[in-house]
Amino acid sequence: KWPERVMIKEVGPRDGLQNEPVSIATEDKIAWINQLSKTGLAYIEITSFVHPKWIPQLADAFDVATSIERVPGVTYAALVPNQKGLEKALASKIDEVSVFMSASETHNRKNINKSIAETFPVLAEVVREAKAAQKTVRGYVSTVFGCPYEGAVSVEQVIRVAEKLFDMGIDELSLGDTIGVANPRQVEEVLGVLLKRFPKEKIAMHFHDTRGTALANVLMSLQMGMTTFDSSLGGLGGCPYAPGASGNVATDDLLYMLNGMNISTGIDLERLTEAALFIQHKIGRALNSHYLQAMASC
Ligand code: HMG
Ligand code: MG
Repeated sequence: KWPERVMIKEVGPRDGLQNEPVSIATEDKIAWINQLSKTGLAYIEITSFVHPKWIPQLADAFDVATSIERVPGVTYAALVPNQKGLEKALASKIDEVSVFMSASETHNRKNINKSIAETFPVLAEVVREAKAAQKTVRGYVSTVFGCPYEGAVSVEQVIRVAEKLFDMGIDELSLGDTIGVANPRQVEEVLGVLLKRFPKEKIAMHFHDTRGTALANVLMSLQMGMTTFDSSLGGLGGCPYAPGASGNVATDDLLYMLNGMNISTGIDLERLTEAALFIQHKIGRALNSHYLQAMASC
């Protein structure tokens, strides 16, 4: 019933730090990513090559990407919204390029300043060039389970965007519950439809924990056969262009649960906790994850 192994993709340095009011020094980001690289994580999304005015917290993307120690076996990924971002990402020798857009029109506009129809050709070109440069490409669809501006999002809207992204040649699709509104029954229904069209091996789940349902949604996804999950250490994160969005499901909470269920990930919880304490100290407030809070009170 349960998978033997799950792939956890750490998005804390990107999704986590993009929404933190405190700005973290470049050297601290580098030190943190280097620590994360030694926890057994096989995938780290380290930054975004977006416009620095839109996401000032990640304005040092190039320095971060070119200064970290690249541990063999770890894939280092970054968000890329367009051609300009791709040029910098390729110059920084990132391993994987992540393009992103939304299933809902309004969030897409607020987040990347384009309609959905205008976004497709921009991303198609990014995917084409990234592939020509021998990079793997991940595609994100945001607002899969609900939009902060439009409310309900139909599964047909998700399919339309997902199909286009797969047609462009993405290797993996990440389904974003951007504002943490999903519940397990909805996850079952949406995945039930999507898995009839797309192979589950090519889909990752990206849950934010705004309303405390993220781990329940992970559990339902596991039952539906999903084995790749995005998470953020300590529960850092959110989307600045999605009001009310808070952190991703916490990597440490997720790992604690999977360890207890005897589902392997290759990640060392003790080392991961050390990395969480490091970034917590730099951020200067207690992080949200249950695991860290339990450790602090034991
Ligand atoms: P725009 O203003 O429409 O861009 O922004 P433009 O193409 O019209 O260009 C305007 C100026 O920006 C030009 O400069 C460009 O060169 C420059 P000028 O000629 O005026 O001096 N420019 C850039 N500069 C640096 N890097 C670039 C870049 N592109 C253009 N890449 C843009 C469009 C997409 C760039 C902007 O809207 C943007 O950066 N948005 C990013 C928003 C973002 O990062 N959101 C958070 C990530 S998504 C997320 O969190 C959801 C996710 O986690 C999944 C989930 O939870 O659902 C992934
Ligand atoms: Mg996100």
